[in-house]
Amino acid sequence: MTAASGALGGLVLQELQNLPAGPVRPTARRPRRPEEVRADYDDPASMREAFAGADRLLLISSPELDPARRLRQHLDALEAARRAGVKSVVYTSFLGADTDPTGLTEAHHATEQALIGGDLPYTVLRNPFYSEAFLPPAAARGVTSGTGGRGLNTAFRADLARAAATVLTEDGHLGRAYDLTGPLWTFPGLAAALGLPYREQEPPGALGWLHAQVRSGRYERQTGDLERLLGRPPTPITR
Ligand SMILES: NC(=O)c1ccc[n+]([C@@H]2O[C@H](COP(=O)([O-])OP(=O)(O)OC[C@H]3O[C@@H](n4cnc5c(N)ncnc54)[C@H](OP(=O)(O)O)[C@@H]3O)[C@@H](O)[C@H]2O)c1
Repeated sequence: MTAASGALGGLVLQELQNLPAGPVRPTARRPRRPEEVRADYDDPASMREAFAGADRLLLISSPELDPARRLRQHLDALEAARRAGVKSVVYTSFLGADTDPTGLTEAHHATEQALIGGDLPYTVLRNPFYSEAFLPPAAARGVTSGTGGRGLNTAFRADLARAAATVLTEDGHLGRAYDLTGPLWTFPGLAAALGLPYREQEPPGALGWLHAQVRSGRYERQTGDLERLLGRPPTPITR
């Protein structure tokens, strides 16, 4: 698996320890632990070497913001997997990447297209936004948003990691794409559950753009895919 040093990667590793996974080879851009092997998305040779002999690869999407560079990294990782003889790939994509080739999902969309058009058997996990990112800090005295009370379908990394580990260790997931969504919640509802006052106010910058997207209803989609992979309902944002 790639990006084992990241938040999601670390949780997948933990989950794999509880499942009949066979030997796991965590890779990282800058290995920090003895068991980690170097695999840098910007260094195809390092990936070929790191992936050699592996049956399945978990390709965790790069955090690179530039879509062209991010796509290059993903395509290089897939080519390295193919040349290393990897038999199948699980790729962490983003919800909506199948239909939206622009913006946040640009590189995910193109990576999915490469998987569909390529000869490596694959599974796509379309993750939603992480719930963690939306929880107010412990000292917060209130909650504001510009979402107009519309819903979000976020999920905790721990649940998404569990789903990834399940797909990696079970048969029957090849050629499939899963649209993973957590329980729908709203900012006013979150404020009420936390006993905090709520105020409608559009945040500046990138967050303002995101809240406008939420206001459009884009993140209200619900599927049963995450619940089916977990075998239980996903964890709500207000646990
Ligand atoms: N669904 C969401 O809400 C959401 C939010 C943010 C990001 N994401 C996507 O989901 C991925 C996993 O999320 P996360 O929370 O685990 O992110 P994270 O904690 O920031 O981890 C990112 C990982 O990518 C690795 N990485 C960066 N550049 C690399 C390179 N050139 N070659 C190999 N590895 C490289 C990092 O390694 P180092 O330790 O060496 O830096 C780290 O392990 C992100 O990378 C991003 O694509 C999703």
